[in-house]
Amino acid sequence: MRRLTLCSTVALVALLGAVAFAQAPAKIATAADFAAVMKSNAGANGALNKSLGSGAFADARTAAGTLRTNLTTLRTFLTEKKAADGLKTVNDGLGRLDGLDKILAAAAPDQMAAQAAAKEFGGNTCGACHKMMRDGDAQTGFRFREGMNPF
Ligand code: HEC
Repeated sequence: MRRLTLCSTVALVALLGAVAFAQAPAKIATAADFAAVMKSNAGANGALNKSLGSGAFADARTAAGTLRTNLTTLRTFLTEKKAADGLKTVNDGLGRLDGLDKILAAAAPDQMAAQAAAKEFGGNTCGACHKMMRDGDAQTGFRFREGMNPF
């Protein structure tokens, strides 16, 4: 099963080509699932900014869709865990993605407005939650801040 999942992931990544990023689990049951959602977030957010920079709006929509899926997964998890602060940040982020989607739905999307919206999403959603819930760095590894671990 695991091998099958891996194979289809590889196939999907090959299919997606330039906008490839890791697929996240649909439900968070373990800390490893949580981290996998975060890795997918990083890939999708990077792809979003890159594609907006080059005016590849269809790719940007795909990346924003992955971010929406991941935030929805996080919302379910944080609701179950009654993690109110994280939940508020995630809901705010979903609202920001609505705004971005609206910009991207235009026949000729406003590139600067879309880039500004994506930047605000990065700061006020990813950045804000990390400031509140995350400790560590790329060298020592990331972890939940003390008292903030929902598992
Ligand atoms: C609900 C709060 C929350 C939101 C929203 C959030 N993160 Fe995280 N993120 C965390 C926490 C807590 C950790 C540390 C635990 C971990 O690494 O699993 C983390 C870890 C990470 C990591 C390190 C993963 C690892 O273990 O190597 C990356 C990369 C990351 N987040 C990217 C993002 C990006 C990009 C976004 C926005 C699209 C985002 N996160 C949104 C809380 C959040």
